[in-house]
Amino acid sequence: MDERVEIFEVGPRDGLQNEKREIPVSEKIALVDCLSRAGFSRIEVASFVSPKWVPQMAGSAEVLAGIRRAPGVRYAALTPNMRGYEDALAAKADEIAVFASASEGFSKANINATIEESIERFVPILEAARHIDLPVRGYVSCVTDCPYDGPTPPEKVAEVADRLFSLGCYEISLGDTIGQGTPDTIARMLLAVRERVPVTRLAGHYHDTAGRAIDNIDASLSLGVRVFDAAVGGLGGCPYAPGAAGNVATEKVAAHLERLGYQTGLDASVLQEAADMARAMRAG
Ligand code: HMG
Ligand code: MG
Repeated sequence: MDERVEIFEVGPRDGLQNEKREIPVSEKIALVDCLSRAGFSRIEVASFVSPKWVPQMAGSAEVLAGIRRAPGVRYAALTPNMRGYEDALAAKADEIAVFASASEGFSKANINATIEESIERFVPILEAARHIDLPVRGYVSCVTDCPYDGPTPPEKVAEVADRLFSLGCYEISLGDTIGQGTPDTIARMLLAVRERVPVTRLAGHYHDTAGRAIDNIDASLSLGVRVFDAAVGGLGGCPYAPGAAGNVATEKVAAHLERLGYQTGLDASVLQEAADMARAMRAG
């Protein structure tokens, strides 16, 4: 089999946003520069959110200004509102991401808005991005379980994913934010979402809190998903999702996919170098 599966590297954003130590911008830049040699097409490196909410991402503009941009790599940034969108444009992000939740409890805790209010905030962002052909990715959080509201109905995930896709997001990344999904709940969620958004436009974004992320990736592969988000060294978590341990580790997903016979286009030795670097950043 030589079918391709893409890993979207989110370590410099999702991986680092939860770290307590104030990580110097120079260390973040060094990590991104290393990742740029690994063969990714897309790396999420920045987040233009309120520094009061997520202090660790305050240096995002400096990170985008300081990295050596590799040809063929798109450097992405999160944007919760128009202010974040403008900052991301000024910093020359190659693509941006809006992020919504499938559960009201997490939406309120994470972005201080209901799901509906958050989608209303995204409308002008998507409109502005369309005018300048800037790709916008859409995240849906808590796709199986929410730390505040409990299990998430698959139909609710499908509805939010459909709204973001219809507004113009080119891909919908489905977040198991607290890593409580199982192959069964992930499959039921994907079956519902696939009815509304083409599976070729879906990505799996699984945190590895309970050690089931690889099993959840396998369940997703069998339903046609071919893009997965991961963070080198398994860094990460979300400051507004208690108990959200790291994203599934990129090097672990890459090795697993290669074993299954998929092509990731990634260089395992560079991934290992980046993973070591990421772990050292965590240790401080
Ligand atoms: P708010 O307090 O409701 O809004 O926050 P506000 O408009 O009153 O703003 C509060 C302060 O932030 C103001 O400053 C604004 O100017 C400032 P003050 O007047 O108090 O000095 N502000 C900003 N500053 C910089 N950049 C901005 C910005 N916007 C306002 N863009 C808000 C609402 C959305 C801003 C806030 O809730 C926020 O920033 N939340 C972000 C939380 C976050 O980043 N969470 C982690 C990312 S999501 C995630 O990890 C999940 C994901 O990985 C998928 C998964 O795993 O499920 C994607
Ligand atoms: Mg996440």
